[in-house]
Amino acid sequence: MSELPLPPPVVKTSRLEFQLLEESHLNDFHAIWSNPSVAKWSTRGTSHSLGESRARMDGLFFDPEKPKRLNYGVLIRASNSDTTTNCAMIGVIGVTSRFSLDTVEIGYIFNQSFWGQGYASEALVAYIEAYWGYSKGINFIIAKVDPFNMGSIRVLEKCGFRVVERFVGDIILPGLGRRDTTLMKLDRP
Ligand SMILES: CC(C)(COP(=O)(O)OP(=O)(O)OC[C@H]1O[C@@H](n2cnc3c(N)ncnc32)[C@H](O)[C@@H]1OP(=O)(O)O)[C@@H](O)C(=O)NCCC(=O)NCCS
Repeated sequence: MSELPLPPPVVKTSRLEFQLLEESHLNDFHAIWSNPSVAKWSTRGTSHSLGESRARMDGLFFDPEKPKRLNYGVLIRASNSDTTTNCAMIGVIGVTSRFSLDTVEIGYIFNQSFWGQGYASEALVAYIEAYWGYSKGINFIIAKVDPFNMGSIRVLEKCGFRVVERFVGDIILPGLGRRDTTLMKLDRP
């Protein structure tokens, strides 16, 4: 059973609100993942149906048996919401612990309509602070990013991550073929 406490169900920043990812977020999740420009940096690539997106969400829901995995939907807080859009959830952020019991990897993805407004950086800062508080035994977080994904590298750098290693040709992206990976790391302060 879990040695970790229950995660905070909601995390708030000045403009954003995180909610533990749940079924009701599916349509917005699909809107994000069905855009090839958004999904191109992922080994999973574009989602081609609501069913495929639903299957991807399955692996992201909070599970007390896998407590280090913690994924939130990112929503714009009501007081900041743009009434010209129907999109409630603008992004997803969270960590997985695929590699070893002591290593967690951060991932995030945002709806393209909301890029360039500082939302990912704001979300990452808040997520990391919440995660340090929640997961006392974890002393660092890694990120794996394509060396040409400059927006994501910038977000990580702004939040304190530093490059530690570059792997050559270690992954295949569906639309881009074999790619290098830049490994970045953030230590617990
Ligand atoms: C990466 C991503 C999350 C950024 O979201 P965002 O809300 O636009 O990010 P922010 O606005 O907080 O910050 C983006 C930063 O990158 C910079 N940037 C964006 N594109 C850039 C580019 N092509 N070259 C250099 N810098 C770039 C912006 O200027 C900004 O930096 P600044 O604040 O110093 O000006 C978003 O583009 C996304 O969802 N991409 C697809 C999924 C993805 O790549 N996930 C990460 C996988 S590791």
